Amino acid sequence: PESDVLTAVEALAVVPVVEIDDAATAVPLARTLAEAGLPVVEVTFRTPAARDAVAAIAAELPDFLLGAGTLVLPDMVASAAEAGARFGVSPGYSRTCLDAAEKAGLPFVPGAVTPSEVGACLEAGARHIKFFPAGAYGGISTLKALDGPFGWTGARFMPTGGVRPENVAEYLALPNVFAVGGTWIAPRSDITEGRWDAIAERARAAAALRTQ
Ligand code: 3PG
Repeated sequence: PESDVLTAVEALAVVPVVEIDDAATAVPLARTLAEAGLPVVEVTFRTPAARDAVAAIAAELPDFLLGAGTLVLPDMVASAAEAGARFGVSPGYSRTCLDAAEKAGLPFVPGAVTPSEVGACLEAGARHIKFFPAGAYGGISTLKALDGPFGWTGARFMPTGGVRPENVAEYLALPNVFAVGGTWIAPRSDITEGRWDAIAERARAAAALRTQ
């Protein structure tokens, strides 16, 4: 069920956002993250290899919290679900994407940064909302301000875009943040070049944040 997957994401607190250029790197990447204590990823659907990458991880690691991101059109939502994604993420709010996710039975995290967009997400029944691009839309101070009118609704956010080692703890400490996302753990070039040790080190540090 929807809530179980997103509750599991919430428990891990940090979601590596990745761009995969070669589907062959997907399973080694996922294994690296899982062994580092961070068995979760948002594979962005903005590279030609993204769908095959998701399918490969789904086939090899069924327990991995496998997310698909950058889902901005309903066909992309359906494709991600068919490939085996267990949750979907969008940078924005789209009614047709939400409908596609519901049809596919895919737990879905829509995006919002303004009060009107947050309201639209609430109307659609979403309580897990991506806040993107977090840094450019006021970051921590905007999330604090949104907690006033929206905190009582149970809406909570996953800030992504500009989250870095130096500010991640501050984001995670906010009461209306359920997780953070970002590319700093597994940057594109590290994945392409197979720098698994460097990724593992940053993933271990990210995993340690949730117990602080
Ligand atoms: C995303 O798609 O969520 C962003 O590209 C992540 O942004 P970051 O590179 O600032 O972490």
